[in-house]
Amino acid sequence: MLPEIYHLPFPMPYHGITVEQSLESLEQLFKADVDPARVAAIIIEPVLGEGGFYAAPPELLRRLRSVCDAHGIVLIVDEIQSGFGRTGRMFAIEHSGVEPDLITIAKSVAGGVPLSAVIGKANIMDAPGPGGLGGTFAGSPLACAAGLAVLEVMREEQLLARAQDIGRFMSSRLKGLAVSFPCIGEVRALGAMVALELVKNGKADAPDAELTRALVQAAGRHGLIILSCGVYSNVIRFLAPLTIPDALLKEGFRLFELALEEVAGGGVKAKAAG
Ligand SMILES: Cc1ncc(COP(=O)(O)O)c(C=O)c1O
Repeated sequence: MLPEIYHLPFPMPYHGITVEQSLESLEQLFKADVDPARVAAIIIEPVLGEGGFYAAPPELLRRLRSVCDAHGIVLIVDEIQSGFGRTGRMFAIEHSGVEPDLITIAKSVAGGVPLSAVIGKANIMDAPGPGGLGGTFAGSPLACAAGLAVLEVMREEQLLARAQDIGRFMSSRLKGLAVSFPCIGEVRALGAMVALELVKNGKADAPDAELTRALVQAAGRHGLIILSCGVYSNVIRFLAPLTIPDALLKEGFRLFELALEEVAGGGVKAKAAG
C-alpha cells in the first residue's frame, strides 16, 4: 500500500542479467520516474531470499553505495535471511566490503524466538526521540535474552566457520547431483545459503515449477522438509541450522537424493542421451 516504491532488476548471471543492466535501470528510473533528491532509501538483500538465492555481486553493492553517497540516500541492507552467520560472515554484506547505513535483521537473531531489529549508524538510529519508536513486542525481555544467548552460542561453537563447512558440503553434493540430473540448471551458494534451480531440458529460460513442487512433496514423504523459492517457484533452498550435526546433515541429503531420484529419476540416462 506504500506509494512510490520502485523495483530494479537484480543481477542474475544465470539469466543473463548483468550489474550494468541493473545500474542502467536505476539511471533510467532517476531520469524518467523519480528525482534522486526525493529518494529516501535504497533497500537491497545482499542475497535474495524469497527471490531465489541470488547473491548481489560486490560490484553492484559498491556502485549502489556511491549512488547513495552522491544523492544523500540511505543504503539499507535486508539481512533477515542472509544475516547472522548464514553466509559464513556475520552479515552477507561483509563479503563486499560495503558499509550500509542500516541493516534489518530477524529470524536467526534469536534462534527462533520472535525478534527483529534494526542496526545502524548512530545519526539515524538516534534520530527518533524517546518514545519515537514503539510496538507491542519491542524490547521483549525474553526475546532479547534469547538474542544474547544466540551470540554466545555463535562464538562458542564458531558458527561462522561451521557455516562455511556446511556450505562446502552442500554445494559439493549438489554439484555432484547436477552432473547426472539435467533438471538441475544451477547450484548457487554463499556460505550455507545454498540453492539449486530446476529447469526443463537444462534450459535457464524454462523454469520447472511443477518438478520443484513434486520434489518438495516427495522429500516430505521421506521425512525431510524443504522449501522452494524464486520468482518462478523453481528454486530449492537449503538453510540447515548452523548447529546441525554432521550425521543429520548427511541423512538429510540422503533423503533429498531419494526424493530427487523419485521425481526426476533416469537423470543419468537422460543426460547421456541428450
Ligand atoms: C529477506 C526478508 N525480509 C523481510 C522479511 C519479513 O520479515 P518480518 O516478518 O520480520 O517482517 C522476510 C520474511 O521472510 C525476509 O525473508
